[in-house]
Amino acid sequence: MYDIINKKKRGCVLTQEEIRFMTEGYTKGEIPDYQMSALMMAVCFQGMTEEETLALTLAMRDSGEVLDLSEIEGIKVDKHSTGGVGDKTSLVLTPMIAALGIPVAKMSGRGLGHTGGTIDKLECFPGFSTELTKEQFCQNVNRIKMAIMGQTADLAPADKKLYALRDVTATVEQLSLIASSIMSKKLAAGADAIVLDVKTGNGAFMKEEKDAFALAREMVQIGKNAGKRMAAVITDMEQPLGNAVGNSLEVKEAILSLNGLGPKDLMDVVYALGAEMVLAAEKAATEEEARNLLEQTIREKTALDKFAEFVETQGGEKQYVYQPELLPAAGIQMQVINTDTGYVGGILAEEIGLANLILGGGRNTKDSPVDLSVGILLHKKRGQALQPGEALATIYANDMEQAKEAYGKIVGAYRIQPQAPEELLMVKGILR
Ligand code: URA
Repeated sequence: MYDIINKKKRGCVLTQEEIRFMTEGYTKGEIPDYQMSALMMAVCFQGMTEEETLALTLAMRDSGEVLDLSEIEGIKVDKHSTGGVGDKTSLVLTPMIAALGIPVAKMSGRGLGHTGGTIDKLECFPGFSTELTKEQFCQNVNRIKMAIMGQTADLAPADKKLYALRDVTATVEQLSLIASSIMSKKLAAGADAIVLDVKTGNGAFMKEEKDAFALAREMVQIGKNAGKRMAAVITDMEQPLGNAVGNSLEVKEAILSLNGLGPKDLMDVVYALGAEMVLAAEKAATEEEARNLLEQTIREKTALDKFAEFVETQGGEKQYVYQPELLPAAGIQMQVINTDTGYVGGILAEEIGLANLILGGGRNTKDSPVDLSVGILLHKKRGQALQPGEALATIYANDMEQAKEAYGKIVGAYRIQPQAPEELLMVKGILR
């Protein structure tokens, strides 16, 4: 390990054998944290080549179970978002894709910090479970074309250990390390095609557009080198996506979207990612054809029915999809009132995510309990004109003190300016 650290420190290229040796040794506990930290820091300064990045990704993928989805018929597609606030895209998109007969075998995570997670959202349906065996997962996808399971403990354990180490040694922010970390988990999840939603903006991991493009490029390249069909869509996270932030409110917005009433920013992202998934699955030859097929699933409510079927198959109350008013609801509603004249120039997404955390709707640590019923509904988004006295948002809370604290955070998140801001494109680019 000393020689490997020294080699990287001097800017030399590590061999595949060296990368496997250190990944396996670290996972087994044979290489101590201090040596791995030194290596990660050397990587931050010297970078990694495409070959090194691929070798690290594959070594981390192989450190645990790699799902074999060969019993699922057809081209299996997966989708991954680098995380944001109000991101309920998977809840809308997965049933749309499945309604077209394309198998979606998806592994999702829980929320942490200011960002939410698909699994918490799905648990708003009483009885719903993402603890599926691999056999149930495959059977469900074969039968109804979709299943979502929680990440198993044995999925890329090397990444889990390494990510925790990077987190406390200031070595998270290195593109090849981020790309290999994300892709090791995606490759272990076994799909044939992976469509990435790489977010950029103040609420995203990648604040700058050029960094988001660079990360997307690295991940697409890793996936292709590993034999997968790949696409990445770079999308805006300058403000929360859609109007709802908070688990049950987001599920309600997803159901509205499946009924054809989705907010435009959310649906722009859904259609852009969806078209890539349909193209990767070879169900359409052009983007336009793919979009038409997707629109049809909303118009004819086949995606809504698919979502209900999915909820029922995984043990949840199907009726809640048709009667979303049954979903968990918070006891206190408090309006956030605007006092200025002007336009919404922006909404700091991270601050809105933190307001949801104050309300109890997110996790400070990975074991914190989550109140599914609380959250924030934004009534004004970027570009909208404002008059004093109008409501910017409604807070849904179960505790008055928390609601008051969240109020201040939300007011602070709104950037109000005298002139209308430039319109933002939701989709910044697509890489294949
Ligand atoms: N998300 C991950 O899974 N890994 C990283 O390194 C950064 C973000």
